[in-house]
Parts: sequence; C-alpha cells; structure tokens
Amino acid sequence: MGSPFKDELTTKFHDHYRRQTNGEGPPKIKWLGYDTLKCPMDLWIYQEIIYEIQPRYIIEGGTCTGGSALFMATILDVLGYGNVVTIDWDADEFRPKHPRIQYITGNTIHIETVQKVRDLVQDPGRRMLVLDDGHDHDHVYQELMLYAPMLRAEDYLIVEDTNLGGPLWGLERFLQEIPDKFVRDEERERLLLTFNPQGYLKCIA
Ligand SMILES: C[S@@+](CC[C@H](N)C(=O)[O-])C[C@H]1O[C@@H](n2cnc3c(N)ncnc32)[C@H](O)[C@@H]1O
Repeated sequence: MGSPFKDELTTKFHDHYRRQTNGEGPPKIKWLGYDTLKCPMDLWIYQEIIYEIQPRYIIEGGTCTGGSALFMATILDVLGYGNVVTIDWDADEFRPKHPRIQYITGNTIHIETVQKVRDLVQDPGRRMLVLDDGHDHDHVYQELMLYAPMLRAEDYLIVEDTNLGGPLWGLERFLQEIPDKFVRDEERERLLLTFNPQGYLKCIA
C-alpha cells in the first residue's frame, strides 16, 4: 500500500513520530492523568468537530484506559450537553468515572453489544461515531455495516488509525458498497500529522 498521506514530508514526520518510543509506537500522552493512544493533533480536531456538531451522543468503539472518552466528555462538559457511550471487550475498574461517560463491555460487532448501544442512544440530536477498536479490515467493515445505520445527515464518523492500513481498507470496502451516505472531510487533515488520513467523514444521508 502507498502512503495515505498527501506528501512525502508528512509521511516522514508521521513515521518519525510513531517510532519515537524505541520503535515501539508513538509517545504516550495523557488527558487529565489518563493515557490516550490518540495523536494530540487529532484530539484538537476532535474538539473542533464536537464544538461544531454538538453531539447528543458520541459512540466510541475501543475504550482502552478511557483517556479518549474522558477527553470527549470534558469537551461535552464545557458545552453542557451530550454523552459518550464507549465500548471495549475488556472491563477495567480504573477507567475514569465521569457522569457523561457510559461504559459497555462487549465485542463491538456482537449483536447484543449493538443492541445495548441502540438502547442507550434514544434521544434525538446529532451523533458522532468513532471506531478505534479492532483494526483488522474485515472488522472495521463489519462495524461500519452495523453502526453506520445509526447515523443520519449531519452526524459524523471518524475511522481511527487509517494510517495503519487495515481500517482504511475496511472503510474503502464499505464506501464502495454504500457510496451515498458519507463524504470525506479532508479539511480535518490540515494540521498534517494525523493517525486518521482519509478517516474523517461527514454523514450526508
Ligand atoms: C486502540 S485501543 C483504544 C484507544 C482509546 N480509544 C484511546 O484513544 O485511548 C483499542 C481498544 O479496543 C479494544 N478492542 C479491540 N477489538 C475489540 C472488539 N472487537 N470489541 C471491543 N473492543 C475491542 C481493545 O481491548 C483496546 O482496549
């Protein structure tokens, strides 16, 4: 696969950033003391999207230590509106406790998990879907098939870690089959460093 980035310098900086921790991966960052695996440049973009769409619900696949859920809940706190529903197949009692965060334990693509999410996101209002759990292309494709129907026009989709290949291939397969529901939002890549090249999408139908 060629680089998903627009130019060579961005590709090199991305590769350099990811290799910083003795080649094991990107440097750890924290939000209010909790680890998050996201790129700080992407978190800035998350903040812009959350402010712009004012989501009633943010659905996140892949909680891990809860730092990204806490980041999003903190922005929602400032807005005074919205909840984060975050899913992971591993339970972890040390995740942040926050009144806007609801944790679901389960495999994101199991139908019981999807039903639990549907039950929790009943109110009207905009939705933002963040896929950041399994990065295998078939998993991402299945997740999109299961969760994209929960989104409507003006909602928002972020497929994380398209820089790794698998999530981008899953997204491409989904977009080939369902071509009229999303458009890419390339403006979100203007800070150059992102883990989600081609992974920011507006829902249009
Ligand atoms: C990349 S980490 C999430 C990082 C987190 N969103 C952050 O930014 O800090 C991926 C998480 O997805 C979980 N995971 C992987 N496959 C999953 C699946 N099929 N269903 C639910 N959780 C899954 C893993 O347990 C792991 O905690």
